[in-house]
Amino acid sequence: MTAATMSLESTSKNQQLVQWVEDVARLCTPDRVHWCDGSPEEYEAMLQLMVLSGVAIRLDPAKRRNSVLVRSHPADVARVEDRTFICSRTRDDAGPTNNWEDPVKMKQKLTELYAGSMAGRTMHVIPYSMGVMGSAIAKIGIEITDSPYVVTSMHIMARVGSRVLELLGENGEFVRGLHSVGAPLGPDEQDSTWPCNMGHKYICHFPETREIWSYGSGYGGNALLGKKCHALRIASVQARDEGWMAEHMLILKLISPSGQVKYMTGAFPSACGKTNLSMLIPTIPGWKVETIGDDIAWMKFGSDGRLHAINPEYGFFGVAPGTSMKSNANAMLTMAKNSIFTNCAMTSGGDIWWEGMTEGKPAELVDWLRRPWTAGSGRKAAHPNARFTTPAKQCPVIAPEWEDPKGVPIDAILFGGRRAGVIPLVIEAFNWQHGTFLGATASSETTAAITGKIGQLRRDPMAMLPFCGYHMGDYFSHWLQMGRLADASQLPKIYYVNWFRQEKGKFLWPGYGDNSRVLKWIFERCDGKVHAKETPIGMLPEAADLDTKGLDIPASALEQLLRVDIEGWLAEAASIREYFAKFGDRLPEGLQLEVKKLDERLRKATP
Ligand code: OXD
Ligand code: MN
Repeated sequence: MTAATMSLESTSKNQQLVQWVEDVARLCTPDRVHWCDGSPEEYEAMLQLMVLSGVAIRLDPAKRRNSVLVRSHPADVARVEDRTFICSRTRDDAGPTNNWEDPVKMKQKLTELYAGSMAGRTMHVIPYSMGVMGSAIAKIGIEITDSPYVVTSMHIMARVGSRVLELLGENGEFVRGLHSVGAPLGPDEQDSTWPCNMGHKYICHFPETREIWSYGSGYGGNALLGKKCHALRIASVQARDEGWMAEHMLILKLISPSGQVKYMTGAFPSACGKTNLSMLIPTIPGWKVETIGDDIAWMKFGSDGRLHAINPEYGFFGVAPGTSMKSNANAMLTMAKNSIFTNCAMTSGGDIWWEGMTEGKPAELVDWLRRPWTAGSGRKAAHPNARFTTPAKQCPVIAPEWEDPKGVPIDAILFGGRRAGVIPLVIEAFNWQHGTFLGATASSETTAAITGKIGQLRRDPMAMLPFCGYHMGDYFSHWLQMGRLADASQLPKIYYVNWFRQEKGKFLWPGYGDNSRVLKWIFERCDGKVHAKETPIGMLPEAADLDTKGLDIPASALEQLLRVDIEGWLAEAASIREYFAKFGDRLPEGLQLEVKKLDERLRKATP
């Protein structure tokens, strides 16, 4: 790394920032401090450092230009929800769905851990903007980290560099994120290729002071603090306080054959195909999807009274296994260059591979554990949570307006989950309050890949269970309040979808590109152009309302997908009531009322 890219001097005029960086440096005792300028030269220098020190391997540039593979420690491979804390002043403010610790106690404990934790390392100061700089919806953060992998990943995932400091000026506000892998080095100690601290991992959020303190892990959402920690957990609190929404949602643009456009956001728990949906290739002729974002949406009312969304991120940090030219060609094309791959396997030809990438398996690989691997070994070559980190602007179907500072006006909000029974293919909410109820009761059956217990129902309200930075009951109230702020006719319509309905262990709906058939119905509902039937659970299409041209699906499967299973729904209502009890008196009355009304409508419909 050259002296020019390793500036020790701050370029910031923000005294609070300079003071904080000095305080952290005094506590963590790094060898030196580097203020990141966000330049391509800095990215390249950092990548070269990772290569020379054995952290990263360059892939064959003829196959994947300017890309590297990194393999983590086997004990540091995913977000750690049981080590994630919301340290609000009171336990009640964190609510029943979060781990809580007293902020003073947690800071004491972590201060001891941070003391000297960066010895032998460089401390990097990363100024970043979530959202295009200058947008009224964007926010600034500063991450301090001792991991070059985090610096390069943040270059891809957020807008990073000196321009952020200029925007911050002397008095601008910013979210403070402190990250250390927790692996100090003695004077003659050799570094490991993935330093981390297995015994002490803490991902802590201090919502009142907008701070994040992360220690011990170098992986994904634990370490790239702009993403889940800032853009969801801290931002959800900022959004509540300031009257906007920070959601775990993709943003897509659907274009009809006549060129009309609707924007939709969608919240789905993990393993439900969010990235795939955001860059879907429709099977219905003439329709097209373009991508705005694949994971996070920040939404604010615009001067036109409509809810506008931005994607605060700059890249995609996607799960690699299962991604292929068949399941998501646009993601594959996005990551053809300038990408970082983590915990994938490596081919002898210098490229990466993971389960599901190709029809057949390569005969030989080096697996993510750095061990020789053969197709008959019975082991997974890539870790199930192996990831690609890739610039969003490289996506072949990125919408031209994806960086519009005003955001895009949202027509429809989708919720969903993975349910084998009861929940139909699509439900339209009667109104915003009912839609909030659908989101609040979102649920998914766990797959073997996640917990080992197949088919266990987990409620994941708005897919925010691991990401809401305050009491979930208050979060529901905030949703209802947002609905009250707008003219009802200007609000997005709300839908609940389930691509995963099964009968006798077989999926009833083909999914993937055919999900565009459901999106088309939603598009036309937004214009009032297509029929829906009123049922006790919401408005549903009848088979004739869905475009199934060219789809080889038996009438009985469609009938099953669109049926209201009264008995099943009565049991669902009872389970929702039980779930809601968890939130005590912080459950808003509107949702209490919705479960009561659902129950009444179902009982009336009982033959
Ligand atoms: C993610 C997640 O990595 O939701 O996006 O876990
Ligand atoms: Mn996510």
